[in-house]
Amino acid sequence: MDECNRKPTSMKVENYKFFSESEHATWKSLFNNLDHCRKHQAHPIFANGVQKLGLTGERIPDLKEVNRTLSKISGWQGIAVEGLEENESFFTGLANRTFPIGNFIRDARDINYTPAPDVFHDLYGHLPFFTDMAYAEFCQDLGVRAAKRSNNSQAMILWGRLFWFGVEFTLIKTTQGTRIFGGGILSSFGESNYCLSDAPVVRPFSPKDIVAKDYKIDEFQKEVFILEKPSQLYECLDEYEMLVDRELSL
Ligand SMILES: [Fe+2]
Repeated sequence: MDECNRKPTSMKVENYKFFSESEHATWKSLFNNLDHCRKHQAHPIFANGVQKLGLTGERIPDLKEVNRTLSKISGWQGIAVEGLEENESFFTGLANRTFPIGNFIRDARDINYTPAPDVFHDLYGHLPFFTDMAYAEFCQDLGVRAAKRSNNSQAMILWGRLFWFGVEFTLIKTTQGTRIFGGGILSSFGESNYCLSDAPVVRPFSPKDIVAKDYKIDEFQKEVFILEKPSQLYECLDEYEMLVDRELSL
């Protein structure tokens, strides 16, 4: 399962890795396996973002080049990190329009699994969304609000739930039918097909339900939330912050 759990130990690295040819081949397999997903399963914001950033199946992109394009569009930047990011620094990063990019790629022998968010999950699954201005604003706002509570571990858990169910594992209604809106799904061939099958329980997007809902990182999601439209996510932060504060005061 391709997953993203921002837990202990990460640090910014000075240099983006020099990837080997076999590692570029792993990217190519992953990217090409998701051709159908980009064209027919993903929300257009994601598919358009892949194009705007110039991501292709040829090679693992040069992060500097991606950042040059992305910063001109929305001011966001990918920052190479080693390992997993702590929630506290992760949300602070979002508040500063930076997103951690795992400085490694998964093992080609087990291509559908990554033990931690790798360059494919982070750069391919997440960065294209930041080419959309409304999405870029939303994610920064989420980071600002969560980072205000970064000294409170329970608050980090609650804000992590919104990231999980709103940013990683999310579906959305469109005029073409149900599409995928979460980077955690979009960077996984298996999870993309699974989430659009009849297997998971699909519930209407609800901040109240999400703030009370724990999740597992090591299996396909048994329940996912579906948005009516992107603005439903972007406009949920006042309500979600109120719910978090209420939970913390109980
Ligand atoms: Fe992620």
